[in-house]
Formats: sequence, C-alpha cells, structure tokens
Amino acid sequence: PSIPVITVDGPTASGKGTLASAVAQALGYHFLDSGALYRATALAAMHAGVAETDEAGLAAVAAGLKLRFAHQQIWLGGVEVSDELRREDVGAMASKVSVWPAVRAALLQLQLSHRRLPGLVADGRDMGTVIFPAAQLKVFVVASAAVRAERRYKQLISKGISTSIDVLRTDLEARDARDKSRSASPLKPAEDAMVLDNSELSVDQCVAKVLEWWQQRN
Ligand code: C5P
Repeated sequence: PSIPVITVDGPTASGKGTLASAVAQALGYHFLDSGALYRATALAAMHAGVAETDEAGLAAVAAGLKLRFAHQQIWLGGVEVSDELRREDVGAMASKVSVWPAVRAALLQLQLSHRRLPGLVADGRDMGTVIFPAAQLKVFVVASAAVRAERRYKQLISKGISTSIDVLRTDLEARDARDKSRSASPLKPAEDAMVLDNSELSVDQCVAKVLEWWQQRN
C-alpha cells in the first residue's frame, strides 16, 4: 500500500502551516514545512553573499544545504535557525529565490524523502500540484489579505517586533503576486483540491474539517 500524503497549500500567512502541523500531530504523521527549505536556501544565500539573480549559485546553495529537523527545530550547518528562518527579510528573499527552476529542482528529492510511514502532511505552495500529485487529500487554504495581514501583525507584535498592518499587507500581496505569476510551480489549487477559506474559522474548526475530509477518504 502507498504511504498516505495530505497536502496543504496556500498563500503567505494563510494559516496553512499551523493547520498542517496540527493535522500531522492529530494523525501521528510526519510533517514537511517546504517553505522552510526555501527560507533556509535564502538564509544560506544571504550568508554566502549569493545574489537573488544568480540561479546557478542559488541552486548550488540549495543542493548543499546541511539541514537537520529535530524536536520542531531546524538546524542549518549545526546552528539552530528556527527563529531566524521566520524573519520577514528571509521570507521575502525566499520568495525571490523560489522563482528559479534550478532551485526548485535542487530541493525536490529532499521534499520527496519526507514521505515515510505512517504518512506525511506536506505544507507549501506546490505540494499538491507538483511535488505530491498523487496525494490522497489535497487542501488549498485561502483567507482574505486583510485577515492575513492582521494575523501576521499580531504574531509580530506578540514577539515584540513593531510593524504596521499596511506595510505587512503590501508585502504579502507582493509575495502572493510573485508566487502566482512565476512560471515554475505557480501557486494555484490542484484541480482535485478541497478549498478551505479560513477567514472566519478557528484553527480547531479547520483541523476538524480536514480530519473529516480525511475520514471520508479512508
Ligand atoms: O510558506 P513560507 O512563507 O514559509 O514560504 C516562504 C517562501 O517560499 C514563499 O513566499 C514561496 O515563495 C516559497 N515557497 C515555494 N514553494 C513551496 C513553499 C514555499 O515557492 N512549496
């Protein structure tokens, strides 16, 4: 029997990461945060001084990543970088790095390797369309830009980082536009994806919905 995969795709700050990791936890499945791979590539490129326009250089950085996932933390070359990867400037660089087909190709095997028993929940932009097209359940999470900007705002304020909702909203709309318009693996729902608009739903309600879809398929 094939190893089960649930994909959770959607735009920046849609809450898909929180949802995907909660679903993985509920089912006892592995969890892949594919955005972290693009963020790690971005951070490593920033450290190495590789430009966002240098496709071959960025692909070499991606291919050479020394990443380790353990206890919900991420280590890059022996340094714990979980918080650093969440930085806004790293996210913005990740969005630029991820447009390059060679970078995406360099991260393919690493993503596929996370598919292990008893199952995988994979979070990203192209999990259902490109990386795991045969996934048994594909979820595409959406929420209004206003709701997403407000959520991101609260997260940052609670971490003591001062910012403005308008700046965040402009930034996430720019990132959405880049993710949707790129030619390599653009952000879009798979044809067989279930669309979940969580603008008005709590995390628990979203988790319950996905688990209900999953039960219907098993
Ligand atoms: O999901 P997250 O915000 O951590 O992803 C950071 C960036 O990495 C996104 O803006 C997107 O451009 C890119 N990404 C991608 N494909 C994925 C996951 C993330 O292109 N599967």
